[in-house]
Amino acid sequence: MKNFIKSIILLFVTILIVASCTKKVAGNIEQTEVEISSLKTKFKNDFYIGAAINDAQINGTDTLALKILSQEMNTITPENIMKWMYIQPEIDSFDFSMSDKYVSLGEKYDMFIVGHTLVWHSQLAPFMNEVKDSTIMANHIKDHINTIVGKYKGRIQSWDVVNEALNEDGTLRESIFLKVMGNDYINYAFQLAAEADPEAQLVYNDYNLWKPDKRAGVVRLVKDLQSKGTKIDGVGMQAHWSLEGPSIEDIENSIIAYSDLGVKVMFTELDVTVLPNPWDLNGAAVEQSYEQFEGDPKMNPYPNTLPDSIQNKLANRYEDIFNLFLKHKDKIERVTFWGVNDGNSWLNNWPIKGRTNYPLLFDRNNQPKDVYKTVLNLKN
Ligand code: G3I
Repeated sequence: MKNFIKSIILLFVTILIVASCTKKVAGNIEQTEVEISSLKTKFKNDFYIGAAINDAQINGTDTLALKILSQEMNTITPENIMKWMYIQPEIDSFDFSMSDKYVSLGEKYDMFIVGHTLVWHSQLAPFMNEVKDSTIMANHIKDHINTIVGKYKGRIQSWDVVNEALNEDGTLRESIFLKVMGNDYINYAFQLAAEADPEAQLVYNDYNLWKPDKRAGVVRLVKDLQSKGTKIDGVGMQAHWSLEGPSIEDIENSIIAYSDLGVKVMFTELDVTVLPNPWDLNGAAVEQSYEQFEGDPKMNPYPNTLPDSIQNKLANRYEDIFNLFLKHKDKIERVTFWGVNDGNSWLNNWPIKGRTNYPLLFDRNNQPKDVYKTVLNLKN
């Protein structure tokens, strides 16, 4: 009887040991799979891969999105918190509470940290829109750039110095900066940024940069800066695209045109809308808004789930896009998605508010979508 009990105990202990080993092995396998199959591992010899992050992620409350970020990405961009209206809402009154957290987060995860954006006509502080005098405007721009770039010198690796300065035809946009200071404000901003942090990468960032006319405008802009000896390191193609366009050929022509200038190309705000557009909308000018379509079910055809046929289209579209990126990996420095998951994409509210869009690689529950697997399985 004694021996029988002994055997039972031995058997029980053996089962426990085997079970715990199996769990450990399974855990290791899982860990290895995550390491091998993350986006950042996949593209580690090609380009940085990352996402724009919002307040909840920067504050650390959206822990599931942060998990994706730390596992999958090696670069971040602040979606809103570093824009002028938030970081310097009033003259000489800077609020670094969120940007400090943002930079610390990037450092914690050892990421390539992007600053977005220094000079942009949108989300500008109200006081800037009142300025009429060019010297005053120049001083405000100087304070803004010196203070922010200087504060994060050596900690923010890349700056979107000027954002969206061009019209669709490639001419300069009639922004408050252009109206008050004339076209030299762009050169001025880049020079200030270079002085404030000589090591930082300096980028001109805009949407629809695949368009031939706008492409020609960027080429003129970059050449103009270069002819003045001003440092510019890259062109940021925002990449707010759709299932149908732009064509791979147009995107490719722009990659080549910008790279030929001797600067790097960044895809800074990648997403692919799957929803219908009332008109032929392309680009990301936030002024466009289509209130009359709010609540129209025809404009929000997938409120609960995305049909397989559209999932496949999305996967094919991303496959084409990433194959192009890989083809030109020597010219491309970074690919950043505009958001971590579908739930926090700006495209749920633009150009029509309150829709359900599916533009990214992770779903609303932070689960990888089919399109994620497609991208992961591409041949580098
Ligand atoms: O901060 C207010 C908040 O107080 C208020 O409760 C809430 C109610 O709607 O609005 C909040 O402001 C919103 C802000 O994002 C911060 O969340 C604005 O309404 C909203 O218009 C704003 O949208 C941002 C947009 O830029 C504004 O231009 C998007 O989140 C952001 O994704 C988008 O990003 C831009 C890039 O910076 C430049 N390229 C185009 C891209 C897409 O438009």
